Amino acid sequence: MPAVSAHAPGKTILCGEHAVVYGQPAIAIPVTQVQAKAIVMANPRGSANQIRITAPDIQFDDYLENLPETHPIKQLLLKLQNLLQLSHFPAFDLKIHSTIPIASGMGSGAAVSVAIVRAVSTFLGCPMSNEQVSSLAFEAEKSYHGTPSGIDNTVITYARPIFFIRGQPFETLHVRQPLIFLIANSGIKSETATVVGEVRQAWQNDPNRYEALFHAIGTLTIQIRRRLERGPTEEIGSFLTANHQLLQELGVSCPELDELVNAALSAGAQGAKLTGAGRGGNILALVTEDTLAPISSALRAAGATNLYLTNLMPATNET
Ligand code: MEV
Repeated sequence: MPAVSAHAPGKTILCGEHAVVYGQPAIAIPVTQVQAKAIVMANPRGSANQIRITAPDIQFDDYLENLPETHPIKQLLLKLQNLLQLSHFPAFDLKIHSTIPIASGMGSGAAVSVAIVRAVSTFLGCPMSNEQVSSLAFEAEKSYHGTPSGIDNTVITYARPIFFIRGQPFETLHVRQPLIFLIANSGIKSETATVVGEVRQAWQNDPNRYEALFHAIGTLTIQIRRRLERGPTEEIGSFLTANHQLLQELGVSCPELDELVNAALSAGAQGAKLTGAGRGGNILALVTEDTLAPISSALRAAGATNLYLTNLMPATNET
């Protein structure tokens, strides 16, 4: 049987992170420059449930049965087995590759889950719908961090810009004119679970203050959506920067991210903010073709370890 492979992109959150966990809207876009890939190969000589999982990029090589029950990949495969009502898996090898930086706010965990569900379900002859893929990846997200909003698995599964409110069907975002976002990695790893947990703690200690901040972020997100869809797009940059200031108030920025944001703004970015959980990971800046080069240089000089580009384009023939 030939190998089956599937892939999934990274993502970046344009606005609304953290507040989205508390019911506010957020906007996320796929980053196709990076991706996770899963490859499944039958092992005709193996016994039932003998599944070897390798991830050469992180020197991981083990059998499913050896992984702890809490391991996100084990949980994912067991949920898939349940959903497909399989008494056992046939023996197979699962190889995972990813160019998405880990613990950087680009959805590496969700992308690996989406690629695995797609590849394994297709290998088993039961390819899943996007809805099923997203919902299984959401379950895995819960093991990475307890209270995910669901935005990461959704934008990564559907690979299109989305307007997202927790617990509601997402909406595809149709932009009015092309926009270019430059993403800069601070090189600092940050676990979403930790930062989301600390925001929760802070919210429990001072619910009024934090709910006001979440609400202000949600209001900005609605403004940004309106400008993306109807213009004028010139105002989007200042809303993004205002979102960064609210994230600072939430306590999820750090000096390195602030420095990258300031460097992008000083070099001519229309707006800039941290993206994802914060305390490390990435910032994004709204740039133009003319400002891309100077802003890239400024970000590298301010400590960015990697730069990624992602565009928002008006749809030509969307279904
Ligand atoms: C993580 O990419 C975005 C957060 O809002 C968490 C979540 O939505 O699950 C920080």
